[in-house]
Amino acid sequence: MNPQQLRDTATTLVAGDKGLLAMDESNPTCNRRFAKLGIPQTEEMRRAYREMIVTTPGLGESISGAILFDETIRQQKKDGTPFVKAIADMGIIPGIKVDTGAKDLAGHPGEKITEGLDGLRDRLAEYSQMGARFAKWRAVIVVGDGIPSRASIEANAQALARYAALCQEAGLVPVVEPEVLMDGDHNLERCREATEEVLRTVFDQLYTQRVMLEGMILKPNMVLPGLTCPKQETVDEVADATVRCLLRSVPAAVPGIAFLSGGQSAELASARLNAMNVRFKSRLPWALAFSFARAIQQPALEIWQGDDTHALPAQRALYHRASCNRAARRGEYSAAMENTPQFARPGA
Ligand code: 13P
Repeated sequence: MNPQQLRDTATTLVAGDKGLLAMDESNPTCNRRFAKLGIPQTEEMRRAYREMIVTTPGLGESISGAILFDETIRQQKKDGTPFVKAIADMGIIPGIKVDTGAKDLAGHPGEKITEGLDGLRDRLAEYSQMGARFAKWRAVIVVGDGIPSRASIEANAQALARYAALCQEAGLVPVVEPEVLMDGDHNLERCREATEEVLRTVFDQLYTQRVMLEGMILKPNMVLPGLTCPKQETVDEVADATVRCLLRSVPAAVPGIAFLSGGQSAELASARLNAMNVRFKSRLPWALAFSFARAIQQPALEIWQGDDTHALPAQRALYHRASCNRAARRGEYSAAMENTPQFARPGA
């Protein structure tokens, strides 16, 4: 491990108002999203979709790092250029999802544990060889009747910390993602309570496993009411609750916090990130950035529809969402940006 290199990579990932693009959907998740739109669920379609993304002109203006899936990091553009090279040529740092998915936690109905530690040291060495400079591991915490349990929080936090330590050993910056899910009718306070307990436990484990906080990125959920909760707080209330929770639980040594979108609409994810930066940016020890999958990709996927003749408008939509989120990092996003094609780089 080279501590300075880890620090530099982590700082670069959240520098200059940019953020991460998560394009690391596993094959089952990607196929599920394709199926909803009638797109064939084949390896070639997944490759073509990712080629559309990585050839979006100007993407590097707003995106600092792209998280790939194992299948994708091994794929090439039609002209033979490896995706990793195409990404790096745009000034975007290639990253890789290294967990192998969330499975049922034994003895704890409804709860999950993320797997993937076995053989991880060897896989990290291979990904590093292929050009990846950071990695991601997602833990899933479910809120419901009597859950999350201590068992699910501790088991997931320990796995995250062991993954993070192995990443740093291999010279890769760990993106540590404990996701408290939005599914359910729980209120914002329940989400806050669960998120705070999870983050405190995760940082306790990161300390125990000797993870260097300056060389990592935290990827948490925002503090939100459940998707079906009747009371949905305002954008400013969500921003306040999220930042208050993070201030209580995330050490100042962490260079950046890059939120997942978790099923929020693309517009709300931008608006909430914007509100946090408007209200708190000058007073925070860490950068507040984004690491969205759906909130950047979904509009583009719906336009692309598996048809490459739609690639240009799909790339415009992708560029637009990435640009909106960059504006949100500066606290300069507004809903008006959604109605006027302010950001029109592809093909312009
Ligand atoms: P969403 O932004 O769609 O929640 O995805 C982020 C992610 O990387 C999930 O692991």
